[in-house]
Amino acid sequence: MSYLVINGGKPLEGEVSVHGSKNAVLPILAATLLNRGINVIHNCPRLKDVEISLEILRHLGCTVTRDGDTVTVCSKNACGDHIPVELMRRMRSSIVFMGAILARMQSAVMSMPGGCEIGLRPIDLHLKAFRTLGVDVVEEQGEIRCRMQKIIPQTIQLELPSVGATENIMLLSCVADGVTVINNAAREPEIIDLQNYLNAIGACVTGAGTDTVKIRGVSRLHDGEHTIIPDRIVASTYLACAMTTGGTVTLNRVIPAHISAMIATLRECGAHIFLGRQSVTIRAPHTALPVRTIRTAPYPGFPTDAQSILLSVLAVSRGTSIIKENIFEGRFRHAFELNRMGADIEVEGRLAVVRGVRRLYGCPVMACDLRSGAALVAAGLGAHGTTTVGNVHYIDRGYEQLERELRTLGADIERVESL
Ligand code: EPZ
Repeated sequence: MSYLVINGGKPLEGEVSVHGSKNAVLPILAATLLNRGINVIHNCPRLKDVEISLEILRHLGCTVTRDGDTVTVCSKNACGDHIPVELMRRMRSSIVFMGAILARMQSAVMSMPGGCEIGLRPIDLHLKAFRTLGVDVVEEQGEIRCRMQKIIPQTIQLELPSVGATENIMLLSCVADGVTVINNAAREPEIIDLQNYLNAIGACVTGAGTDTVKIRGVSRLHDGEHTIIPDRIVASTYLACAMTTGGTVTLNRVIPAHISAMIATLRECGAHIFLGRQSVTIRAPHTALPVRTIRTAPYPGFPTDAQSILLSVLAVSRGTSIIKENIFEGRFRHAFELNRMGADIEVEGRLAVVRGVRRLYGCPVMACDLRSGAALVAAGLGAHGTTTVGNVHYIDRGYEQLERELRTLGADIERVESL
């Protein structure tokens, strides 16, 4: 097991580039199954979850090559419809492959994706939408088996603006014979990126970014090329690391509009933030101000993925803040790790009361999921003394060489492989 050793207290200074978005590239890699041809994906980050997706594509019969940040997938000879349990288990979000496999093969078999560290992660909305579109879905003995003759294009009313369910319906409907409409669709930037990729291979999708997405099915798709948008949560993480260390950092290759909720919140915390066309510069205060209440919500609300990271910022602030987590039920687990570092955070279900302290003190902590791991790194960078963060594999799922990037900003951080 590897872990990160951080000697805290040094303000981060300098510039860093933000890599491609994990949550944009995962559904787009699934979509490469659709066109039975060549797909060139630029700005594809080197992440554990991306590697697992590429493994799934190879398992399904695709050829996959990587040249730097560009991944090329040829799905001409794809023939499989089954994702083995060991691959499903390693990445919960493999469920987004279901719509693409069904659209290509007219059948799909995969194990129920287990819950994960942040909550139960049900997929009832995905399966309900598939059944509405004419898919025969059988769930038994921990497996989901889907078969279909023809998609029956419909209007789907999502009970919740689920990102994954929106993506799965878009993937399944691309080659249907008719128009499918998704009402109450998720509006995240990753949905827009998926629409742009699908249209680049000849699909006809409109409305992404709004709560109504329309997919007009086409008979054939063709080769395509696409550049993945920057990762808005990685960008938010770097801003949080500037805040916990009182530093001045410029992010390059970022889309400021995608992180407007985080920017507004950090300005409330006393940060001076300047926006460029594709850059954001933050000058952090010596000590953050508290925020009265943060409520996580679907985009463009405050993102649940950035909530974990914000907790580390508010842990050292001049007052009390309240955070309400409305998306996932298990998103405060690292609060107990922060309290071991001297924070004063009280968690009651989906509510956290954060009483700001003067500073945190380094100690051994363990990441319990992807974003909590990043949050503990941010906390360690600002803490007095040495922090070791275990379970780094969680962090590697969504951050490409986080410690290397932070070192370019002056952080004293290194990765150590345990004996
Ligand atoms: C995506 O997860 C992201 N993952 C998550 O990022 C992100 O936190 C989440 O969207 C919300 O923005 C990827 O894109 C790979 P949802 P997803 O379906 O699609 C409930 C990270 O750290 N729900 O929008 O799984 C669900 O329980 C990850 O990068 C159902 O009830 O999220 C949750 O309360 C973590 N039934 C809410 O909807 C369903 O069938 C939002 O989930 C589906 C979801």
